[in-house]
Amino acid sequence: PKAEFVAELMSKMTLEEKLGQLNLPSSGDFTTGLAKSSDISKKIAEGKVGGLFNIKSVEKIKEVQKIAVENSRLKIPLIFGMDVIHGYETTFPIPLGLSCTWDMNLIERSAQIAAQEASADGINWTFSPMVDISRDPRWGRISEGSGEDPYLGSQIAKAMVNGYQQHDLSKNTSILACVKHFALYGAPEAGRDYNTVDMSHIRMFNDYFPPYKAAVDAGVGSVMASFNEVDGIPATGNKWLMTDVLRKQWGFKGFVVTDFTGINEMIDHGMGDLQTTSALAMNAGVEMDMVGEGFLTTLKKSLDEKKVAMERIDAAVKLILEAKYDLGLFHDPYKYCDVKRAKTEIFTSNSRNEARKIAAQSLVLLKNENQTLPLKKSGTIALIGPLVDAEENMSGTWSVATQKGSSITLLKGIKEVAGKSATILYAKGSNLDYDETFETNATVFGKTLHRDARSKEELIAEALKVANQSDVIVAALGESAEMSGESSSRTKLEIPQAQKDLLNELLKTGKPVVLVLFDGRPLVIKDENNTVPAILNVWFAGTEAGYAIADVLFGDENPSGKLTTTFPRSVGQVPIYYAHKNTGRPLSNKEGKFEKFRSNYLDERNEPLFPFGFGLSYTTFDYSNLKISSDKMDFSGKLKVTVDVSNTGNFDGKETVQLYIRDIVGSVTRPVRELKGFQKIALKKGEKQTVSFDITVEDLKFYNSDLQFVAESGQFDVFVGGNSNADKKVSFELTK
Ligand code: IFM
Repeated sequence: PKAEFVAELMSKMTLEEKLGQLNLPSSGDFTTGLAKSSDISKKIAEGKVGGLFNIKSVEKIKEVQKIAVENSRLKIPLIFGMDVIHGYETTFPIPLGLSCTWDMNLIERSAQIAAQEASADGINWTFSPMVDISRDPRWGRISEGSGEDPYLGSQIAKAMVNGYQQHDLSKNTSILACVKHFALYGAPEAGRDYNTVDMSHIRMFNDYFPPYKAAVDAGVGSVMASFNEVDGIPATGNKWLMTDVLRKQWGFKGFVVTDFTGINEMIDHGMGDLQTTSALAMNAGVEMDMVGEGFLTTLKKSLDEKKVAMERIDAAVKLILEAKYDLGLFHDPYKYCDVKRAKTEIFTSNSRNEARKIAAQSLVLLKNENQTLPLKKSGTIALIGPLVDAEENMSGTWSVATQKGSSITLLKGIKEVAGKSATILYAKGSNLDYDETFETNATVFGKTLHRDARSKEELIAEALKVANQSDVIVAALGESAEMSGESSSRTKLEIPQAQKDLLNELLKTGKPVVLVLFDGRPLVIKDENNTVPAILNVWFAGTEAGYAIADVLFGDENPSGKLTTTFPRSVGQVPIYYAHKNTGRPLSNKEGKFEKFRSNYLDERNEPLFPFGFGLSYTTFDYSNLKISSDKMDFSGKLKVTVDVSNTGNFDGKETVQLYIRDIVGSVTRPVRELKGFQKIALKKGEKQTVSFDITVEDLKFYNSDLQFVAESGQFDVFVGGNSNADKKVSFELTK
């Protein structure tokens, strides 16, 4: 019985030991672990540490756990966290890429494999899923989320939590999940990381909160506070957010951890000194303090001064101990420290094969003129670009545990998948980095850039020599892994200029060019879309990236990824997203031509380059016969929407059928359409399938201006198709 066990333990704890449970330092050195004599080891022995993160390997974790359970007075085990974000040593596509699979089973499976590997290596807590909705590709961490849509984001949040926690934390293959960053971290002003967020409550509840809530509904064990402010109070100290919304409205039962030094950063936000911000966070409803030690060093004083109540500290300690209990750590502190498992369950060929399949489904075919793709496994293929042979760039941001040196490059993948009958040539063509002022081999973000010392002209000359001998050119261009992720906001969203120049030279050869585009965010590729016949967007697809990309390029896998973020035509359109409002002055022409005194731009169209939900296949799909079971529904009713989808091309393929709803009139303005259902189906060539969706009143609900979750009677349009521009439409009325 958990309650009694925890109560009994707490009755023996001193205040210092209680505050220790709320303290989460970082091991400091990710790879070497802790030196026995280190300050943290001493603190662990003194009972001043509740958990530790950023320590890798079962041996090192075991050693540290031993200090807690043998040397500390009450022998309370530590919890071990890590940013296991998109896989562990076997690394899956960055979360934005994973979301483009639109396949909840695959996404859940990726989290399950990540949990299995991490737990085999001593980890029992992951700082994932990151579910921050973002509609701003300038923000570098858009790469870590599931895109712009609250409905899809909610399904993914649930799949990830289930994958990590597997509905049962007592298993030794499941780990505690931590949904982050609560809340609104994906909406910083001007796309600049950590910047101010200012948003109406109605938008929070309708567009940004749903994925966090979905994770809570799925039973997520912990929540991480975001760095940004919400309504003028940093999330870390925001009682409305952490207590009223999270606990009282949503019924969250786990614990809240700050982000790295989140409490200390409230000093710079202008909320007071460390004692004040620590008390603010504690009183707001935060339980664990990551790195900053504000709780450890100031809460006693606040207690003496009656700024914090003992009941509140006890409530926090209880939640941390309960999580440890649920993980089975009191029963066996070494539950996750099985050296045998570490040897046999990490980076296995099975996991890697699954990762390869999953990665292939995350790739999005944006353009394929003249059936440039798939490539033939014959003739001469020129692989050109700084991302062809760039092992360290395959896994993308937050792949801290990835097996270094083992990712499959495009060069390796293409050589193996093409086989002996094709000749593969390679030239680097240009340097990768976005800032040409970096020196050769400069260290940026702790990584060596390996800039080629040759001049731009020399690199291009070598590339052209190779290109001229080929039948087809595959240009692997885009962002380096560090150009997206934390603290990697950009004001320009184009491919770096040196690479654009290379691409233009390649196009001049007159050979067919396939652009394999690596990126951690939607890029602005208007120029490339005008000039390059085929574009495959590959994100950062993980340790098996090279194989997965090759599988798709050669048609062993038919691309089926669909965008989960809008690709703008210009950075000036940002924020841009499909579920926008109509305004009082929408354009009146369908072609998107400029109209004076209407809501548009002088110098760019309103619509994006590629809409949400978009992605091509080597085959084609035809939608017909859209029907709705009735043109009326009451509040307890159900409607069935059916559509026939046919594979009309020459390949077997997968299609994500999407259903969007527009609420025509509301007590508050409603988006022009919102995703309310999707199904990913496999169709053999020539095959047809009737796909059906149910609509109930739940699909029509939204938060009104009193923040009540309601549906309102009236007229609704339903659109079904292969992307958010779907134009097949049926309508119905919701009646009282
Ligand atoms: O989990 C992360 C978070 O996303 C950003 N700051 C650091 C945390 C722990 O590494």
